[in-house]
Order: sequence, then C-alpha cells, then structure tokens
Amino acid sequence: MAEIDTTQGGAAVPGDWTYASAPESTDIVRIAERYGHYVGGEWLEASETYETISPRDEAPLAAIGQATKAEVESAVAAARNAYADGWSSLPGSERAKYLFRIARILQERAREFAVLESLNGGKPINESRDVDLPLAAAHFFYYAGWADKLEYAFPNRRPRPVGVAGQIIPWNFPLLMLAWKVAPALACGNTVVLKPAETTPLTALLFCDVLRQAELPAGVVNIVTGDGRTGAALVESDGVDKIAFTGSTEVGKAIQRQLAGSGKKLTLELGGKAANIVFDDCALDQTVEGIVNGIYFNQGHVCCAGSRLLVQESIYEPLVEKLKRRLTTLRVGDPLDKNTDVGAINSAMQLEKIKELVAAGEEEGAEIYQPPCVLPEKGYWFAPTVFTNVAQSYRIAQEEIFGPVLSVLTFRTPDEAVEKANNTPYGLSAGVWTEKGSRILWMAQRLRAGVVWANTYNRFDPTSPFGGYKESGFGREGGRHGLEPYLRFDE
Ligand code: NAI
Ligand code: MG
Repeated sequence: MAEIDTTQGGAAVPGDWTYASAPESTDIVRIAERYGHYVGGEWLEASETYETISPRDEAPLAAIGQATKAEVESAVAAARNAYADGWSSLPGSERAKYLFRIARILQERAREFAVLESLNGGKPINESRDVDLPLAAAHFFYYAGWADKLEYAFPNRRPRPVGVAGQIIPWNFPLLMLAWKVAPALACGNTVVLKPAETTPLTALLFCDVLRQAELPAGVVNIVTGDGRTGAALVESDGVDKIAFTGSTEVGKAIQRQLAGSGKKLTLELGGKAANIVFDDCALDQTVEGIVNGIYFNQGHVCCAGSRLLVQESIYEPLVEKLKRRLTTLRVGDPLDKNTDVGAINSAMQLEKIKELVAAGEEEGAEIYQPPCVLPEKGYWFAPTVFTNVAQSYRIAQEEIFGPVLSVLTFRTPDEAVEKANNTPYGLSAGVWTEKGSRILWMAQRLRAGVVWANTYNRFDPTSPFGGYKESGFGREGGRHGLEPYLRFDE
C-alpha cells in the first residue's frame, strides 16, 4: 500500500492497493569468495572452479569447486574411513544425538539458510522460509527418532547399514533434498558423499558449518561440488555401496545402466507430469487455490507439480475463468521480496527449456493465457502461463516442462479421468478434487502415482513416503519406507 489517504476523517483508506516492496535483508548471509570441497571434516582446496550466480540478477556470488575424479575419490575414501572407524557401529541413540543437533541448528539458523537459498536458487523467500527450512529441519528430527528403533521398524530382519551412500541432488529444493538424503542415511548408520546441483551449491556448503557445530565425526558427511561429471565420478566410484539420485529421467536412466550388475543399491526419484483432477462437485475456490499451489509453487520447478489439469467438462468454463482471474493477482519478481509469489527461473538453461516447450504448445494449436505482469530486465523470468485447448498428444501435455506452465484438458466420466491421468510415462503424483470421499478412494486405487493428494496439493511431511512409478523412478523417501534403501537385511 503505497500512499495512505486519510482525508475522509475515519480510519485510513489506502490510496493505492498495490504492494510496496518488502525486501528481506541479505545482511545475515556471509558468502565466501571461493569454496573448496568438504572432505573428512576439512576444506579441501578445489583444483578447478566455476562461478555460481543469482538467477534474480545474474550477479556472481562465489567461485565453486568442480570436483575431479581424484577429489571425488578422496571424499569417498574419507567416508569409508569414517564408516569403518566407528560410525557404523555407534549405538543408534548416539547417532540420533547428532541428527537432533543438526535439526536444532537448522532451526536456529533458518533465516540465514532461507535467504541464501532464495539468493542462489531464485525461489521466493516466503517459500524458503515457510516450506524448505521447516521441512528440512523436520526431516532430521523425524529420522533422529528412528535411529535407535530400526529393530522395531523391521522386526526379525536384522537391519544393518549399507556402507557409503553417494547422493546426487537437484536444484529445485537444494537444502530440502539434502535433508531427504542425508537424514535417513545417517539414521541407518551409513556415511555419505553428497553432490549438490551445480547451480545451487551454497546452502549445502553452509550446511558443512552446521556439521561442524554439531560435532559430527569427521568424514561421516562429505560434500563435493561440481556438475554432471562430478556426479558421474561418484556413481562410478568402487568405494560407494549405494546411489540415491533425484533429477531428470534422462540422467536417472543413464545411472541405472551404469550400475547394472555392479551390486550397488540404487534409488531414483525422477520427473513427473502429474494430473490434477477436478470433479464438478469440488469446492471451486479452494480448488483454484490448490491448482495455483500445484503448478506455480517454486516456479513449477517441482517434480510432483500438478502440470496437467484435468477438468470435468461441466465446470470447465467457470473454473478456467476463476483460475485466470486468480493468476492476475500472483506477484512475479524479486525472490527476496516477502510479497513475491513467483520468483526467478533457476537458470538460463531451464528458462530456454520452458520457452521451447511453450513455443511448441502455441505451434501445435493450444491457446495461451498469461496475466499482465512486468518482468525484471535482468535475471531469468517467466510469467505464469495457462494453456487451454490442449490435446493429449501435444508436447505440453506429455513432457515435463518444470516451469510455471499449466496445460488444461477435460474429461466427462471418472473412468475417462483415470484413463487420461495414467496416460503418461511418469507416475509420481496426482491430485483429486471432489466432495465425495468414496470417489477419492475409487480414484486413488486406480491412479498409477506414488502420491495421491485429495483436496490439497504439494503437501509434504517427513512421515509420509514419497516416490514414483514407471519413469518417475523407484524407491521411497520419507516415512519408515525411507529407511529401507539405506539398510541391508539378513534374509
Ligand atoms: P539433471 O538430471 O542433469 O541434474 C540433476 C543432478 O544430477 C545434478 O546434481 C547434476 O549435476 C547431476 N548429474 C547430471 N548429469 C549426471 C550424470 N551423468 N551422472 C551423475 N549425475 C549427473 O537435471 P537438469 O539438467 O538440471 O534438469 C533437466 C530437467 O530434468 C529439468 O528440466 C526437469 O524436467 C528435470 N528435473 C527433475 C528433477 C526432479 O526433482 N525430479 C530435478 C531437476 C530436474
Ligand atoms: Mg542435465
């Protein structure tokens, strides 16, 4: 509210309903000029570096190590030593102590991490602050609770750690994905070598300072930075017993091929093209909020994003009208502004991919809608977009866009909704909007998706398993299920 008009005598009336800017200060964050790799509890000077930038203005932030094969091997060796040298045989209650410490430190330093996350990755500060950070801490709290109860989680199966876990994560939820990977691995008695995504290394590097504060024994968690070459070196390393990967289906398939016959354990969390299915008896306004949260949250850089909206024909028109009106109220801009709903696109590469698919949608004949919004000059931006008139065969209905772009399709009967929803190579998530509980259960049984949300979307909880079918990958993260990939059993 820019100007306050008090001329009418009574309570103040805003003269202008637009929001004034509400920037979050970056003073709390200290970024080094140059980072090395965190190996064996110490910083190893990086032999090669690249520059990490902020997608909101393309400003350089720091020089980051591009780990070579030899540097990856030294991290793996540190993890092996730490594994043999006490961590794997430590009582569960002792391991839990460290996980609880990490969770508490993350809570204490939440603002610092949230600002850094938004700065390096482009997501709105209100999301890093209210979603990424609380959930990351919650994952450590949750798995701390399991560390001394593995025998009860898997009775009569003698659960034991696997060894060294190589973990490769993406850029859409940098710290949260780190938490999803590191917390269960440590709870089960493994040691870790983690590689963050090349565009978003900074919160993982700050996390090393949390490990120092928590006095985690040296080498239990090692962090090497770099691009896909560093990831591939980690996958190849003979000293790694298990690989956990979150990222593109393309790289996931390559890793699976690479590991075939090696005996290494593998979990893959890959792409998605989720159906968000709206029946004509839904609560319309609540559903519109769910659709917006489903696809515009985190600029649509979400593997489980509700990117295909399936609407029952009878409510198609009022729903699309409400949705378009709601889009005009989304504020696109500086991720560090507390009023921002849609932040910066993570990288130039991702922006190119979004633009290419949107152009394909227009070319194939879909109708595009974008609300009027002024995008900043510098940095990477894409306006929230809705496509109507979309056919099942269009690329925008088939391929993962990983951006703020929604494709709207229609259906008449529940059978048709299931048919269309499942008509995809993916199977990570789905949403169902209806007043009828029986219909929710009927749908959930038939949808081939790892997670089915009912009358909500993108709701996460560490106690709930998450993972895919088909080309969305295999293995589960979260919940008791999330322990299993990090254990071996006497059977
Ligand atoms: P990507 O799969 O190339 O990157 C994910 C991680 O894997 C990064 O840490 C990267 O350095 C690493 N990596 C790349 N090549 C590797 C290799 N050969 N061996 C081992 N590790 C490797 O994904 P990218 O290129 O960033 O995004 C491409 C598309 O993938 C996106 O547009 C989106 O559709 C999808 N994606 C899906 C994600 C999900 O959460 N399921 C996350 C990120 C991207
Ligand atoms: Mg890639």
